[in-house]
Amino acid sequence: MPSALPLADPAPADGLLPASAAVEATDRAFGVYLHVPFCRVRCGYCDFNTYTADELRGVRRSDYAAHASAEVEFAVAALAGSGVPSRPASTVFFGGGTPTLLPVSDLARMLSAVRDGFGLVRGAEVTVEANPDSVDAVSLAALAAAGVTRVSFGMQSAVPHVLATLERTHDPARIPLVVRWAREAGLEVSLDLIYGTPGSPSLTGAAPSRPRSPRAPTTSRRTPSSWRTARSSRDRSAPGPCRCRTTTCRRTCTSSPTGSSARPATPGTR
Ligand SMILES: C[S@@+](CC[C@H](N)C(=O)[O-])C[C@H]1O[C@@H](n2cnc3c(N)ncnc32)[C@H](O)[C@@H]1O
Ligand code: SF4
Repeated sequence: MPSALPLADPAPADGLLPASAAVEATDRAFGVYLHVPFCRVRCGYCDFNTYTADELRGVRRSDYAAHASAEVEFAVAALAGSGVPSRPASTVFFGGGTPTLLPVSDLARMLSAVRDGFGLVRGAEVTVEANPDSVDAVSLAALAAAGVTRVSFGMQSAVPHVLATLERTHDPARIPLVVRWAREAGLEVSLDLIYGTPGSPSLTGAAPSRPRSPRAPTTSRRTPSSWRTARSSRDRSAPGPCRCRTTTCRRTCTSSPTGSSARPATPGTR
């Protein structure tokens, strides 16, 4: 049987936070995460809250920036009403989904909402997640001009058959290209990699890695929580309840109930 959703306190009707949220708040850096829940296609392993065009059911992507900006205004008021001292954001992270499916002007609008509502520290890091086939030299330059300072590419693997297992749509040969374009635009770059994919080269048998050059992009390695049960979308013939645990998710899932439990998107881990 799929595991039950964890019990939690209901969201307070007034939207305010518990008093503990204000304790020593000024000792902590303040970061803002903005989720953009749209993807062109969904990768079989993905647990994040995201919707392809077929799943939007009348919702328009073009309305999203306005809704997200209103959410930011709501958050500003909720934090103030909860007694959390106001301070400017030192990081802003646009995660997904695929934020780069939205026009740059939409991301700029959401960033303005953060700047107007909270303020940004000088030199704030503003990151956008991007699929390698969702950007080009022009759009990366436009992101930089809009105030983005860093782009995080979902590379996942350099091996074509591993990318195929993951149901990724990009050509690995594109990675060096997008990294170069991003750097030419003045952006910092990081790459997401996934290890342990069925059929991927063994980590233990791998040749020793070469030392990183100072200009090498930073990487983060991820192991999908549903890995042992990940399967091709072509195999999803008997849908059951999704295990991703996000309250808004309407997806179905045929994963084996014996697999490790899935996690929702956790912005702090990115
Ligand atoms: C949610 S995606 C958003 C960015 C972009 N759409 C992409 O795929 O690169 C960010 C990263 O999360 C990782 N990821 C996706 N599904 C995951 C899962 N089930 N468990 C752990 N990491 C996952 C992938 O490495 C991906 O690059
Ligand atoms: S991994 Fe990225 S592109 Fe793939 S479905 Fe998840 S958010 Fe979308």
